[in-house]
Amino acid sequence: MNALKSDFKKYMAQTSDFLPFQIEVEKAEGIYVYDKLGKDYIDLMSGISVSNIGHRHPKVLTAVREQLEKYLHVMVYGEFVESPQIMLAKKLASLLPSTLNMSYFVNSGSEAIEGALKLARKFTQRTEIIAFKDAYHGSTMGALALLSNEEFKQAFRPLMPDVKILAFNNISNLDQISDRTACVVTEVIQAGRGIVPAENDFMMALRKKCNETGTLLIFDEIQTCYGRTGKLFAFEHYQVVPDILCIAKSMGGEMPLAAFIASDSIMQCLNGDHPLLGHATTFGGHPVSCAASLATLDVILDEKLIEKVEEKAGIFRKKLSGHPAIKEIRGKGLFMAIELTEPEKIEKIVENCINHGIITFWFLFNHQCLSIIPPLTITEKEINLSCERLIKALEMKN
Ligand SMILES: Cc1ncc(COP(=O)(O)O)c(C=O)c1O
Repeated sequence: MNALKSDFKKYMAQTSDFLPFQIEVEKAEGIYVYDKLGKDYIDLMSGISVSNIGHRHPKVLTAVREQLEKYLHVMVYGEFVESPQIMLAKKLASLLPSTLNMSYFVNSGSEAIEGALKLARKFTQRTEIIAFKDAYHGSTMGALALLSNEEFKQAFRPLMPDVKILAFNNISNLDQISDRTACVVTEVIQAGRGIVPAENDFMMALRKKCNETGTLLIFDEIQTCYGRTGKLFAFEHYQVVPDILCIAKSMGGEMPLAAFIASDSIMQCLNGDHPLLGHATTFGGHPVSCAASLATLDVILDEKLIEKVEEKAGIFRKKLSGHPAIKEIRGKGLFMAIELTEPEKIEKIVENCINHGIITFWFLFNHQCLSIIPPLTITEKEINLSCERLIKALEMKN
């Protein structure tokens, strides 16, 4: 092991002992990550749904450089008038339904979920929170309380109380939403379960039940926003609009940024009896991240990336389906999972993928599937190359 890798082990808190992933990153560009030896890896994870317009998109770099020349941090969130934040909030409002017209910018997906939960409790003055089995909403104490998997949360108990977990896509369970429920939190497409989309009837029934009980509906689009599924936001695949929308990951154009978005009338309650502490965040909406986010939106819209998502997903499907190592390819747009016929080989296959220059991984709650979540900018030629490498990795002996 070289010196940097051993210092990585020695000085940085580790998240996993799985070794093949320890690529020593030299640079990243487009769909590629390069290591110290110059080997390229096609990023079929987009840094977990972050690099939707590829690594270091030139327009994002320009926007970042321009903002670097003006100012970095000047004040905690929401105190000074900073144009990158305002322009981004205005742009998001113009792209979202009229009831999602006010953004609160934060630093991470987990923080967006925390903010949304606090907003829902304060607005409704209720305590119960409902989430769904096999959802992942983040690692902070509130978000963690929404996890169904006891093994992930038992070491951290007691967690936020009054949380109920229901089965996803099960309409009959929705009668448990009542006038005690502050909010229901759900992903539109469950990522950690191996890309499982909500069914349309379920979404309609969920919205109806929330309306009947005065419960706020929160969508976690932390992985699915900014074009990933073939719509700018995944909820646009359904006839349903949430009361609060949480976005993160790709929204920062590879810079840290997240938001919870609601109507001005709901958001108003954070500015109540204790101004500032409805939710406070020092770096939320960092101007450089907001500038990067605006440039990312411009690239997605100007280059019509969303319009090409289905076609690109279709090429992946055509090239890979029918392969004996693949049982099923599912997902929406370029948010896909490949289910393996021999899931017990998945660790070896991920390792083979790294050897063949492909970055992919299994999912948090599903160790039978590999992720295919490439930058939306991937070209047909690059998709062909990705599939060639992937097939080699699937066919590699032992
Ligand atoms: C669906 C979903 N929600 C929330 C989060 C938490 O986001 P973050 O890691 O930025 O806190 C994640 C992270 O993977 C996620 O996939």
